Formats: sequence, C-alpha cells, structure tokens
Amino acid sequence: MVQANLSDVNQVSRQSDGSAGNAAPPEESACLSPTNARPSDVRGWLDHVRTALGGDGTPHAALAGLDGMAGSLDQLVDEHAGMAEELLAVYEQLGVVFEVTRRLPGLHDELQMLELFLESVSRSFSQCAAALVRPNEIDASDWVLIGGGITINAWLSQRIEQARCERRTMVASTPPSSSVFGDVSVEVLVAPIFSGDDFVAAVVLARTSQMAPFSASDMLVIESLATFCGDLVRNHRLVKEVRDMSFATVRALVNAVDQKDPYTCGHSVRVAYYATLLGKTLDMTDAELEMLQWAALLHDVGKIGIRDDVLKKTGKLTKDEFEHIKEHPVRSYQVVKEVPQLAAALDGVRHHHEYYTGGGYPDGIAGRDIPLAARVIQIADVFDALTSARSYRAPYDWKNALSIMRAESGSRLDPALLPVFVNLLEALLADGDEAWARVTERAERFAEEWHPALGSD
Ligand SMILES: [Fe+2]
Ligand SMILES: [Fe+2]
Repeated sequence: MVQANLSDVNQVSRQSDGSAGNAAPPEESACLSPTNARPSDVRGWLDHVRTALGGDGTPHAALAGLDGMAGSLDQLVDEHAGMAEELLAVYEQLGVVFEVTRRLPGLHDELQMLELFLESVSRSFSQCAAALVRPNEIDASDWVLIGGGITINAWLSQRIEQARCERRTMVASTPPSSSVFGDVSVEVLVAPIFSGDDFVAAVVLARTSQMAPFSASDMLVIESLATFCGDLVRNHRLVKEVRDMSFATVRALVNAVDQKDPYTCGHSVRVAYYATLLGKTLDMTDAELEMLQWAALLHDVGKIGIRDDVLKKTGKLTKDEFEHIKEHPVRSYQVVKEVPQLAAALDGVRHHHEYYTGGGYPDGIAGRDIPLAARVIQIADVFDALTSARSYRAPYDWKNALSIMRAESGSRLDPALLPVFVNLLEALLADGDEAWARVTERAERFAEEWHPALGSD
C-alpha cells in the first residue's frame, strides 16, 4: 500500500517537472527548484499532489513527510530572518566599536571617552533616547547626567541602582506618572558600565510604546558595548596610573637635585614654565612642546652627580671645579637617555649651555646648529638664574634680568628668540609687582598643573 502511494507521488513529481503526466502543475510548482524554493511553493505543490491523489486529503506517510518538510522550511525562514536581524545588530555593534577605537587615541579624558561612547550608542539606537549617567562624586546615591535627554527621577534612579547592584542589564516600563522622557510612558533599558569592580556609569535607552520592544539582540548589543566601554575606561585608568607614577618619579628626581642646593630649589620647574611660555609662541607642535617641557624639567638632573662641595661653593670656582660643574649637561643627557619615551628631549637637555656664537659646552656648537629646544631652555634658564637669589647675591628684578640678557643677545643667547621672550615677559608683567607675583606663582605650580602624555601618542 505504501509502495503504491510512493510510486504515485513519484509520478506526480515527474508531472510537476512537466516531464510526465497529464495534470498541469500549479504556477508555483513550475518554478520550484532547490535554489529558489519558498515554503509557499512547497505548500502549493503539496496541494497539487493531494488533488492528483484524489483531492480527499487522505493522510499517508509520504504526504505527512512532505508536510513536515514544509514546516521545517517555514522554521528555517523564520530562523533566517532572526539571524539576519542579529547580524545587523552585530554590524551596528562593530560600527560603534570601530568608531570608538578610531577616535580613542585622541582622547585623554575619561569624560570625553564616555561622551564619545554615548554619541556612538545614540547613533546605533537612533530610534531611542539615549543617556549616560554616573554617580555624583560628592554624593554617590545621587546621579549626574553626562549626556542625553532623559530626566533622572526617583523611579529611574532605583532602576539604575538595581542594575549597578545586580551588575546586569535590565528592561523596565515606567509607571504612568513617571516623567523620565517627557510625559510619555516609556520602556527603559539600563546597562551598567564597570571598570573592573568600579562602577563607572550606566547607559540608559528609552523607547515609547509606538516603537518595537527591546529585543534580545538589543540587550546583547548594549551589554557588549557596555563591557567594551568599561574595558576602555579600565585601560585608560591603568595608562593614566602608569603616567602619573612616571611623572611623580621624575618630579622626585628633580626635587632630589633641587634639594642638593637650596638656592636652586624649584629652578627646574620654573625653567620648564618659562620655556613653555616661549615655546608656545614658536608654532611648536604639541609633541615638540611636550618634549621641550620634559627637557626643561630635566635639564639639570645631572647635577645629582656633581660633588656637593663644588655645587654649593659660595666662593669663586677653581678651573677644575668649573670643569666638574660643566659635566652636568652630559650627565643629565645620560640619565634621560635611559628613558626611550624621552628620546626627543635629549637635544634640549644636552645643549642647554651651548653659546649662540659657539664656545659653550659640552660640544661647542653654534647658531642654528644648537637645537631649538636647547636655545629656548637656555633663555629660560638664564632668566630664572638671574631672578633667583644666590648665596653671593640677591635676585635681580625681572626688568634688570631682561636688560642683562639683552646684553648677551647674539653672543650667548639666540638673537631671534630673545626679543620674543622679552616682549612676552614685558606684556605679561605690564601690571608691575602683582603681575610678577602671579607669574612666579604659576611658575612654581607648573609641575602640578602639567599633565604630560609621556610620549605615548
Ligand atoms: Fe644647567
Ligand atoms: Fe639650569
């Protein structure tokens, strides 16, 4: 019985190919092929088989099997659509990740990173309102909106707190009276962002009831992005920690040198400040300016190797003692050379005692052969030395110091750079003593306010 029915089916199958049989196949069946079959094609074809078998829909094994195949195809089509949706979500996620990683190197600030993240999430979920909130630094139970058009009311605060405590993404609908997003009732998705165990912020998405509900793939995308953002923040914090530690180490080294001679205490930091003032007027790139600052800060670090009796001597130095002092630029150079990230600062360190006309030390180079950073540091160095007290004299006031320096223009000091520095100082100090107090105070604080990138860019 089954054999006979299968044979019938085979015959009908041949009819459907148009190669045998009398019954004309329905239109859908005529175009049925393994490459373009759709469930509706199979259904039409099955109906045609039933008609050929007598039209009574009598169940038998072959037809049941074909029904099953059609059902499987329906399921496949649904799964296909689901996969396409997930693929699109992953594509959106990759787009955000790509954009954030592309723009990240330009950012040195955690808040800027979070703002960039929010901007990217807003674009990925353009149908929703997106916001980023983080705990208030003063009161951790309060929330601060980093960006986005959502009101953080008590209800939303509780949802964010819950997402933070449970470390999970959650979806919730606002109660009717809530005003998270205007007066409209919305569904919100809250995803916490963690840097290790530290809660950084929460991304909040809100959609109105007219929009499609948040899907599993939305959750997946936002969770992945939140994890990615948390990892970025963690990396940023680790890099910052290393930079801060490096900078603190350098400051400790500079302080150790300054401590050797109370009369030069704070000298290196002030030189870095004056060099920065001049460097900023010279169209230096950010990287050049940073290296100038490092060089100025470290220019005298080699004095750590100069004997105390020579360094602190108040009387006239003997020839040998002066030769010993003259070793310090090369000693500074040798110290800084050990830090690969400061390679571009070496010239400024080594040559800060060269004379414009030659005859300086350690190499006796002259004019434009002296690296620009070294010529800038030379001017800043002389200005600070003149305006600082020494054991054998009181400090010159800034006007006298500039006059003395003018006398050395073209001989010791670069004749093109010196007038720029003089003009700069005269403009800054036009208000007299008060202005001088402000400038020196800023010079003293320079190291605290400066946040170098340590050549990492
Ligand atoms: Fe020096
Ligand atoms: Fe110096």
